[in-house]
Amino acid sequence: MKKKVLVLTGGGDCPGLNAVIRGIVKRAAQTPDWEVIGSIEAYNGILREPMEVVNLDNKAVAGIHVRGGTIIGTTNKGGSPSSFAIKLADGTLKMVDRTQELLDNLKKLGVDAVISIGGDGSQTISQELYEKGLNVVGVPKTIDNDLSATDFTFGFQTAVQTASEAFDKLVTTAASHHRVMILEVMGRDAGWIALHTAISGGAEICLIPEIPYNIHKVVEKINTRYQNGKGFVNIVISEGIKPIGGQTTTKKNDEFGYKNPRLGGVAYQLSQQLKEFGCLADIRETVLGHIQRGGTPTAFDRVLATQFGVKAFEMVLAGEFGNMVTYRNNTISTATLKEATGNYNLVDVNSYLMKAARGVGISFGD
Ligand code: F6P
Repeated sequence: MKKKVLVLTGGGDCPGLNAVIRGIVKRAAQTPDWEVIGSIEAYNGILREPMEVVNLDNKAVAGIHVRGGTIIGTTNKGGSPSSFAIKLADGTLKMVDRTQELLDNLKKLGVDAVISIGGDGSQTISQELYEKGLNVVGVPKTIDNDLSATDFTFGFQTAVQTASEAFDKLVTTAASHHRVMILEVMGRDAGWIALHTAISGGAEICLIPEIPYNIHKVVEKINTRYQNGKGFVNIVISEGIKPIGGQTTTKKNDEFGYKNPRLGGVAYQLSQQLKEFGCLADIRETVLGHIQRGGTPTAFDRVLATQFGVKAFEMVLAGEFGNMVTYRNNTISTATLKEATGNYNLVDVNSYLMKAARGVGISFGD
């Protein structure tokens, strides 16, 4: 009988997930004694009655590396199996521990190992399950690039490409109308997407969560770019920015089982603040949103994701459980899940990337 590896994708989707799945399946197909199955919507497929799993063979993954999204679905709701959100008859939410049920069901399916493709939250769950005896290997994913054990996650570069294309389009219309254009990008508490987009596009101002901004400095920079009513300014901001002494702007979210604070839309507040503090120009706001999470992965992300997939399966073969595949110093390597989930990868404000940004005149509002 063949051994079974179960693959799942958890958390918010990002371009490159399918390329990882294909990498795992194609590499596994080279070994006669392993087969791959996929759980639908992270661990939900295993916890449903009946279970929702699919066979993943070469035919199932043919050509999927160029497609965005994930062929096995994902979720960023519900939480960890040890604190799983269920809806009671009166509509209220109750957290229950379904870990044992999950482990029992995996046993029933004959699963020998699990490859969990996900971000910080998903890999924290991987660590929890590893400590309960599950043979699990992690693969990092997120457009935010905020995982500390890896230099890059796949999906990030595609998001930057999408944001840069949007930025370039805003530049021409800003110039035609002598406007200030604010482009808001994703990234949660990490300013990577904003910083890369600002450098790539040639922004005048870039605001990131790592550097709380001084509104007076931002207004000053804008106004120096306008003479006799002429001029234009392109600004890139991250959704997680905050003013000096202020807080990140979050939205209430009533979606059942959704635990993260929702970000998005701070561009409108910044725009209003700029006016209040003396910005002379007309301002328009673009909140790029989930466009950054969709579409065809860039060639770089496909290559990185494929390496991650192949490596993850080889880690299963080698029995390197409790670890996550990483990309550091241009090398595919591994880190323990504990190390991988301990810290966030935020922009180092003293890095050369920041120096280069300041070197081409980008203001960070500080
Ligand atoms: O973590 C990825 C991310 O796209 C963040 O950049 C963003 O804040 C969040 O997910 C959006 O989540 P949702 O898809 O639940 O709206």
